[in-house]
Amino acid sequence: MERLVIEGGKRLTGSMRVHGSKNAALPILAAVVMAKEETVIRDVPNLDDIGVMLDILRSLGARVTRTKSDVVVDPSSIYTTDVPEYLMRLMRSSIFLMGPLLARFGTVRISKPGGCSIGTRPIDLHLKGLELLGAEIIERHGFIECRAPRLRGATIFLDFPSVGATENLMMAAVLAEGETIIGNAAREPEIRDLATLLTELGAKIRGAGDDTIVIEGVPELHGGIYQVSPDRIVAGTLMIAAAITQGHVQLHNVRLNDLTAVTTKLREAGVQVTGLHDIIEVKRTGALSAVERIQTAPHPGFPTDLQAPFMSLMTVAQGVSVISETIFEDRFQHVSELQRMGASIKVDIRTAFIRGKKELTGAVVEATDLRAGAALALAGLAAEGTTILERVHHIDRGYEGFEIQLRELGANIRRVREIGKDVHVTVDA
Ligand code: EPZ
Repeated sequence: MERLVIEGGKRLTGSMRVHGSKNAALPILAAVVMAKEETVIRDVPNLDDIGVMLDILRSLGARVTRTKSDVVVDPSSIYTTDVPEYLMRLMRSSIFLMGPLLARFGTVRISKPGGCSIGTRPIDLHLKGLELLGAEIIERHGFIECRAPRLRGATIFLDFPSVGATENLMMAAVLAEGETIIGNAAREPEIRDLATLLTELGAKIRGAGDDTIVIEGVPELHGGIYQVSPDRIVAGTLMIAAAITQGHVQLHNVRLNDLTAVTTKLREAGVQVTGLHDIIEVKRTGALSAVERIQTAPHPGFPTDLQAPFMSLMTVAQGVSVISETIFEDRFQHVSELQRMGASIKVDIRTAFIRGKKELTGAVVEATDLRAGAALALAGLAAEGTTILERVHHIDRGYEGFEIQLRELGANIRRVREIGKDVHVTVDA
């Protein structure tokens, strides 16, 4: 078991490059199984979830090679469409393989993805859309089997603009016969990234990034080369880290338009945020003000993945902030851990009321999911004394070298590994 040991009180200063987006790379790595030849994907972050996805592709028979930041996938040797259950259980994003494998091979078998700590995370919208595209779906013994000799274009309207369902159905539709329209589609930037990759491989897609996407089916896809976009959630997390430590940080490799909601709320809190091309500068000198209303929503609303990190910031802002989580039904598990650090937070179902305090105090806390883990690390950066953050593997799912990046910006943070009862060693950076 590894943990982070954080000595609070250090201001973050300096500049940092933001790595490629986990949530863009995962569906893209699934999509390339539809191509006839190999695809090169650049700036793929080195994360546990990415590693699981690459293992799944290898288990299907694809040839996958990885350099430091690039991945090459040659799907021509795929010989099965049964996704191994043990890998499926490691990461629910393996659900992204349903659309591509069904479209390319006419069959796919996955184990039903479990929920996770932030909610039940059903996949009904994925399955309903695949059925409309002509798939026969059989659910039994905890597995889902889909069969479709040839998918046919259809008009699909999503009851909710689900990111994963939009991505899965867009991928399935790319090789379907005829035209598919996806109404009430998710508008997250990762949807546009996926459509750009698919177009690079020969797909015909219009409207990605808007609420209606039109896909004209094509007979096959060829290989290509694609650069993964910057991770907007990692960028937002580092912006909040600068703000909570009264720091001054410059982030490179960001897309300003993806960060409008968090930039707006940081400015409301009194943080200086300036952007130019692919650089964003965050500086906080004076006191932080509470932000009266933060409500997570589908893009371009405030991203649910930055709800926990922003709540950490509000625990040391002057006044009372109100944060509503409208996307996931159980995404306040960081609250009790922040309370252990002295935060004053009251929760009423899906709304949290945070009364800011002068400062938090370090404590032993536990990460419950990747964004809650990041939020607790940020709180530790600003707390008086030492914070021990347990279950840091959650953070490794979405942040590449998290503590290394923070240390390079001036934080006093190190990773330790338990090698025996009460015996810990620092893990070299
Ligand atoms: C993606 O998850 C992201 N993951 C999540 O990031 C992110 O929080 C989420 O989108 C919302 O932005 C990846 O991209 C790998 P949804 P996804 O389908 O696709 C309900 C992180 O921290 N729903 O938009 O699973 C669902 O229960 C992760 O990086 C259905 O009801 O999100 C939830 O309440 C966490 N039926 C809401 O929609 C369905 O069939 C949003 O889910 C599908 C979803």
